[in-house]
Amino acid sequence: MINTKVILKSRPKRLIENNNFDIVTEPLADLQPNEVLVQIEAISLDPAMRGWMDEGTTYIKGVSIGAVMRSFSAGKVIRSKNDMFKEGEYVSGLLGAQQYSISNGENLTKLNISKGKVSLHLGILGMPGMTAYFGLLEKGTPKKEDVIYISGAAGIVGSTVGQIAKIKGCTVIGSAGSDEKCQYLLNECGFDKVINYKTEDIDEKLKEYAPEGIHIYYDNVGGPTLDIALANLAKGARVVICGAISQYNNMNNIYGPKNYMKIVTARGHLTGIIVFDYAEDWPNAINEISNWINEKKIFAKEHLIHGLEKFPESLKMLYTGENFGKLVLMV
Ligand SMILES: NC(=O)c1ccc[n+]([C@@H]2O[C@H](COP(=O)([O-])OP(=O)(O)OC[C@H]3O[C@@H](n4cnc5c(N)ncnc54)[C@H](OP(=O)(O)O)[C@@H]3O)[C@@H](O)[C@H]2O)c1
Repeated sequence: MINTKVILKSRPKRLIENNNFDIVTEPLADLQPNEVLVQIEAISLDPAMRGWMDEGTTYIKGVSIGAVMRSFSAGKVIRSKNDMFKEGEYVSGLLGAQQYSISNGENLTKLNISKGKVSLHLGILGMPGMTAYFGLLEKGTPKKEDVIYISGAAGIVGSTVGQIAKIKGCTVIGSAGSDEKCQYLLNECGFDKVINYKTEDIDEKLKEYAPEGIHIYYDNVGGPTLDIALANLAKGARVVICGAISQYNNMNNIYGPKNYMKIVTARGHLTGIIVFDYAEDWPNAINEISNWINEKKIFAKEHLIHGLEKFPESLKMLYTGENFGKLVLMV
């Protein structure tokens, strides 16, 4: 069998270029005892991939030059020499950006496809959904009537955080980069207030929408937006640092917060989240989110692109704001 895969050819200096990747084909190795062969159907495109393309400055070692690009992928087991996995079962894991993946079964998650189609298991029922769930509930500790501000709100993490916060009785303010995304947050995700950060002044709007300050800031973008949020904290506020997509293309010269003394005066907490720390509890969270989806309390927008060869072009969309919903490449 022939495998087509996306390999990392070179590291970007700043912005990702198409020629940082190559698409190559090669024969698949024979399956060894304990291994499974997965036919990949969907590949998750995630903001963290920009960091994985570097030598290794993030929480996980960078992808080696010439190696398959790391990605969360999901697909069907089509051959198995591992007793834990049967042919026909669906699985996800760090299976890479390729058509087929051979795995020894370690860190493979079985997917319950009856709870949602494969792509959803890379989005709201996968790693980003878990990030929203644990980042908000464990780190943000929302209470009824809290006011929460979420940046990068129209992404899968931000929109899920906002909808769970609504379920918990919070007032939800989100910022995103277009009017269309803001309307989506208001009309489909039930946000209370939205800010188009490209055309409106975030500080002015936060003061108008949250005159007593914000109790939770869920940060997906970092940079100057974090400064503005810090300046608007209410007493006892929690700041959850989930991501900093505005900085990912320039991590050697990252913009740090200037207003951090506001944590002192607000008697606040500033804390980070890494979703993998909650891996044991993911199954319970998946169940709860699936129930909310069935009850129509949560909605997840997807942005599906078809064709492995579109990997480089599609990945770049995350850093320009061209994606609208969870970006997944269908193989
Ligand atoms: N800590 C963890 O364990 C963990 C796990 C998963 C994800 N994350 C983080 O969670 C965040 C959201 O992830 P996601 O999967 O939901 O992706 P996402 O929000 O879909 O990310 C892409 C979006 O980011 C926004 N963006 C891009 N460049 C920006 C900039 N310079 N300034 C402001 N916004 C910008 C764009 O939306 P606009 O059109 O609104 O600009 C774009 O559509 C990311 O920071 C990611 O790294 C953290």
